[in-house]
Amino acid sequence: MIDVEVAPLEELPDRGGVRVEAAGHRIAVFRIGDDVYAIGDRCSHAEASLAEGEILDATVECPRHGAEFDLRTGAARTLPATRPVPVYRVEVDDRGVVHVFVEEPS
Ligand code: FES
Repeated sequence: MIDVEVAPLEELPDRGGVRVEAAGHRIAVFRIGDDVYAIGDRCSHAEASLAEGEILDATVECPRHGAEFDLRTGAARTLPATRPVPVYRVEVDDRGVVHVFVEEPS
């Protein structure tokens, strides 16, 4: 497992996303207040960056065709997407820095 240091929590936009690339993974990291979520950045419907989507409660709306994905499970909640996106483990350390954990490439 690779530990990817993202940024201090306070530097992430509240109710916004940032894109992180590590070990071949393209990850969208979202902050909602003190909560942080990390899911696959690439929409499962077509090519779009979910990090650029709008947060609605605990979902993000794809900026291209509007499918909504659950930030906790990666599940596609609305069409046109039907497949989930990956979910990554995320932690905030005791310095307040956000980390995302990704599988090592095989
Ligand atoms: S590219 Fe995301 S819903 Fe179509």
